[in-house]
Amino acid sequence: MSHESAIIVADQIRTNPKTVLGLATGSTPLGLYNELIKLHNSEGLDFSNVISFNLDEYVGLPKNHPQSYNTFMFKTLFSKINIKQKNVHIPNGSSFNLKECDKYESLIKIYGGIDLQILGIGSDGHIAFNEPSSSLGSRTRLKTLTEKTVNDNARFFDNISNVPKYAVTMGVGTIMEARKILLLASGDSKAKPITKAIEGPISSMCSASAIQMHPKTIVIVDEAAAKNLKEKDYYKWVYRNKTNIN
Ligand code: GLP
Repeated sequence: MSHESAIIVADQIRTNPKTVLGLATGSTPLGLYNELIKLHNSEGLDFSNVISFNLDEYVGLPKNHPQSYNTFMFKTLFSKINIKQKNVHIPNGSSFNLKECDKYESLIKIYGGIDLQILGIGSDGHIAFNEPSSSLGSRTRLKTLTEKTVNDNARFFDNISNVPKYAVTMGVGTIMEARKILLLASGDSKAKPITKAIEGPISSMCSASAIQMHPKTIVIVDEAAAKNLKEKDYYKWVYRNKTNIN
């Protein structure tokens, strides 16, 4: 999953060195980020003109908090590649206000929109922090996290009471405007949300299902996450008979 997705991201950057990348946090993209670091070190994959926008950030944590998404991104990727700090954008969760959400949206537009958006998926089918019932047309805004998401994220904190209950997140509408989307998922715990997202009805109850309306989304999953997909054999068949026709 990580290797395949790194090939796609690297091709995108080589084709357009000024690529606007949408980035995700969580355990899922870690392998992809490691592959990109390897390509940067071994083949000189150049991030110097790449612009990045992160999907989301916890509200209430200072930027340099060990569990903030800001810290996560610098620790796992930005400090290991040659992306310029001025080209990195992460929603500000430390002093949240609605005007900043609108500014974030405007900034994405000023840079010409997101070329390639990386996504993981939450166990309740959310993308970014668009929890069930998020409008499929939503924009960057404040979301209250579900109890399930708070519990899922508790593994990163000393105590569940320290897990933030709010986040600032790109909306489903924001994400859907990306020219290309790459959704990654691995492991048993993602089998249910992945099946809902790919083969279930399009519904705000699973914000990832919005990708069914997107003209250019690639989903990369491992066997465990794919285990409940009804059309699994067909997807494998498509992969084996891959064409270069775009
Ligand atoms: C959080 C993030 C999502 C991420 C999800 C899954 O909710 N906001 O962007 O996709 O976690 O995380 P993991 O990859 O660790 O399962």
